[in-house]
Amino acid sequence: KTLIFLGPPGAGKGTQAQRLVEEKGFVQLSTGDILREAVKKGTELGKKAKEYMEAGKLVPDDLIIAIIEEKLKELEGKDIILDGFPRTIPQAEALDRMLPAVGRTLDKVILFDLSDEEILRRLTGRRVDPKTGKVYHIEFNPPPEGVEVIQREDDREEVIRKRLEVYHQQTAPLIEYYRNQNKLFVVDASKSPDEVYKEILSVI
Ligand code: AP5
Ligand code: ZN
Repeated sequence: KTLIFLGPPGAGKGTQAQRLVEEKGFVQLSTGDILREAVKKGTELGKKAKEYMEAGKLVPDDLIIAIIEEKLKELEGKDIILDGFPRTIPQAEALDRMLPAVGRTLDKVILFDLSDEEILRRLTGRRVDPKTGKVYHIEFNPPPEGVEVIQREDDREEVIRKRLEVYHQQTAPLIEYYRNQNKLFVVDASKSPDEVYKEILSVI
């Protein structure tokens, strides 16, 4: 299977992808996670991506497309979730070209639907365990006792607002793009994580 998780920052894409990895054997391909790892390690990619990410802007398409192309080759035959990719029309068009080359067809695009106010609450309260990458929320899903968590660099309010603006301008056009391909399924991302998970299972 090949799924895309599409939706605004903080809508729960990573949270739900992690659960599908644990319970259904999917592989999560998160361009955000790959880029954060590259920044942490100080690789060439990380050096190029850092400033864009800290400003809440998208990293240039050619860099992102190259990452995905390489990963798709490595993951041949596995069920995958593309989390946070594609995010622009050129990225979606590149994906349409790349998939047949690795013997895949796109099954479904799950759109996580959530209001901007709720997004702000989710992202200001998000915390991450840097050791495991597991995602928590100080109010909605607090980390267990003894787990040390940190806040993501781009989860400051002014950066969150920029990411939202970028989402509405550059990523939201993909909704129409995939609706036209009859691939789009919308889930109500405002529900509890369990309810959202059930909704996703019923769709896929
Ligand atoms: P990326 O890492 O993809 O960030 P994002 O899309 O902004 O999404 P998030 O990871 O912030 O949110 P999420 O939907 O995964 O929510 P989560 O599950 O964590 O991208 C970061 C940056 O990298 C971009 O800004 C860009 O610079 C660059 N980049 C990445 N991909 C790119 C691309 N393709 N092209 C160009 N640039 C790219 O949940 C959020 C919080 O809510 C958590 O605290 C969680 O515990 C909580 N929560 C989750 N579900 C629920 C629920 N149902 N109820 C209550 N709380 C919940
Ligand atoms: Zn995420």
